[in-house]
Amino acid sequence: MPAAPEPAAPKPVAPEPAAPKPAAPIGIFDSGLGGLSVLRAVRAHLPDESFVYVADSRHAPYGPRDQAFITERTLAIGEWLAQRGAKALVVACNTATAQSIAVVRERLAIPLVGVEPGIKPAVQQSASRAIGVLATQATLASARFQSLLDRYGDDCRFVCQPGHGLVEAVESGDTGSAALRALLTRYLEPMLDAGADTLVLGCTHYPFFAAAIRELVGDRLAIVDTSDAIARQLSRVLDASGLRAPGPAAPPRLCSTSDGRQLRALASALLGLDAPVESVTISSPHTADA
Ligand code: DGL
Repeated sequence: MPAAPEPAAPKPVAPEPAAPKPAAPIGIFDSGLGGLSVLRAVRAHLPDESFVYVADSRHAPYGPRDQAFITERTLAIGEWLAQRGAKALVVACNTATAQSIAVVRERLAIPLVGVEPGIKPAVQQSASRAIGVLATQATLASARFQSLLDRYGDDCRFVCQPGHGLVEAVESGDTGSAALRALLTRYLEPMLDAGADTLVLGCTHYPFFAAAIRELVGDRLAIVDTSDAIARQLSRVLDASGLRAPGPAAPPRLCSTSDGRQLRALASALLGLDAPVESVTISSPHTADA
């Protein structure tokens, strides 16, 4: 008699990732130091939450990079944070959100919040119906940005200016030198000449220039920065997922893919955080640290 077929061996099952826990920290990342402006807002809004911040300063700026590179970095950092127990991820980078949020949302198992230039609030408040937008080249060229203009632009005219050199200035610790003010003047004057009364800061590095911009343009331009809106959105996402932390919060953990000196200096100056910065390696397929 032919032997009865052996029962098929059970297939190995990949372990399910552990469900995120309310007391776990929230991961927050940017190409570099800009996301600190978002960290400041979310900490103020959600004082019981703990945060792990990753600055990908080794690969900043993202603005001139292509979509594949930005998506790889966003995924690699999101996965790195999720593997270390982050319960949610804030992509505190307009450029990474514009280029990669749809893919990252599909691949990551934790809730995600991205950031976008504040076109909608700017349109709601502009009296002159002319609006300046300062953002990275990659953000301005993205389909997501075009879709924001199509959906919310209404009858407004937009003067869109890529902020070449501005991310590099923040990364090197410059938020107000004479050279930086000259660069900002070059970017803002065409907006004023076009009658703009509102300025959208479409990059999380740019709120660090708020004082310099105010000094240059006085109250001729109302500044729209979305940090507080992101904090409110994060709060809604945590509530919807049952992931609100019971408190008390642990001190933020700061990580950088470079040596972290500027991250430490800016976190101290801006957030009053005197925390050590961990230098971390996060591999992705096309980076030298892979
Ligand atoms: N903070 C990033 C953003 O909001 C800067 C991107 C870059 O590194 O060019 O877009």
